[in-house]
This record gives sequence, C-alpha cells and structure tokens, in this order.
Amino acid sequence: MVINYSELNDTKKYKLMSHTIIPRPIAWIVTQQNGIVNIAPFSYFAPLSSNPPLVVVSIGLKDDDTPKDTRINILETKKATICFAKLEYLEKLILSSNELPKDVSEAKEFDINTVIITESYPPIIENSQTALFCELHSFIDIQSETLPIILEIKSQYIQKELCDEKLNIKVDNIYRIGKGFGKIELIEL
Ligand SMILES: Cc1cc2nc3c(=O)[nH]c(=O)nc-3n(C[C@H](O)[C@H](O)[C@H](O)COP(=O)(O)O)c2cc1C
Repeated sequence: MVINYSELNDTKKYKLMSHTIIPRPIAWIVTQQNGIVNIAPFSYFAPLSSNPPLVVVSIGLKDDDTPKDTRINILETKKATICFAKLEYLEKLILSSNELPKDVSEAKEFDINTVIITESYPPIIENSQTALFCELHSFIDIQSETLPIILEIKSQYIQKELCDEKLNIKVDNIYRIGKGFGKIELIEL
C-alpha cells in the first residue's frame, strides 16, 4: 500500500508522520522576554549537526494565527534554553503546552520552578537532568505556518552525577510517539 501525501489533509499527514518517525525527543523550551519566563514543549525537534552543534525546532501559530510565544521570543532575544523532562514532570510538561497570553508566564501559572544557571541564558526548569543553552543560528522559510528554527548549542548543563570525566552521560528523558509519550529503555549490547 502506498499512501499519497498530496491526498491527505494536515491532520492525517501529522498522524502518519508522528507514528512513523519515532520516537521524537521533546524540547521543553524556556525563553524569557521582559522578565516573563515562557515555557512550552516541542516535539518537531531534532539534532541537525554536531559541527557546528545545531538542533532544529519547528514552531507554528497560536489559534488566533499569530506566532507562538516561544517563536517570537527566540526570534527577538536570539536565545533559548532547551530542557528535557523526566517522567515525573510529564504532567507539568503537558500543562505548559496550554496556550496562554504572551504576558502570562507558564512558570507562574502552572507552578513550574526554574533555576538560573547562567545570567546569559533563560533559566532551566528545576531538577532538569540536562539542558542546552542555545543561540539563534537561522530559520528556514518553508512557506508554511510552521517555522523551522535552527539553534546553535553554546553550552550544556548536566547534573554532576550523570556525567563522568569521559563525558559519558545517562539521562532518562521522556519522548513522544504520535500523541502519546514513552520512556527510554536501553538495550545493552
Ligand atoms: C509534547 C508536545 C509537543 C509539542 N510539539 C510542538 C511542536 O513541535 N511545534 C509546535 O508548534 N507546537 C508543539 N506543541 C504545542 C505547543 O507546546 C503549544 O502550542 C504551546 O502553547 C506553545 O506555547 P508558547 O505560545 O508559549 O510558545 C506541542 C505540545 C506538546 C504537549
């Protein structure tokens, strides 16, 4: 059976892709503008290159057709902190995907504590095992409501006990399959 994407509506294309290209990591992105800490999850998110260290995240529009707050903040401040959630944070992660007015902070609204690691970047979400401090690299105009934004990783926070001197790290981020979620299980070879 061959499914022709040109015959599918957006929902069906999303359904197929999100159950096929699996699992999808979830970037739990913190941005900050005018003192307001914005938090939201994004799973159209992938590594692009290690040299330079780039990731891409595709961010769409709100229900009123204006760009999502994270997209505005990254384009205006050129900075983002990407956190990764453990299973115990799933509820907060989902809460933070609620659409709020731009001047309302998900951190305050949903009681998500944040911690400043470096003054140069937005804070991390408390208890994050690891986080990427990123700067805007570029974006791709794909003639769509969605804007793929390329971010360059400038530094990484990692909890000390999860990283050895050879930079072997072990984190247990949750991921997305379709609209569901999963937890990493490593196959030891
Ligand atoms: C697990 C998960 C993954 C998501 N991935 C994306 C995504 O890749 N792109 C997107 O535009 N929205 C995505 N969303 C929806 C956004 O999180 C949601 O629109 C949020 O309100 C955006 O917040 P902001 O306006 O503060 O940036 C996702 C939601 C969830 C729960």
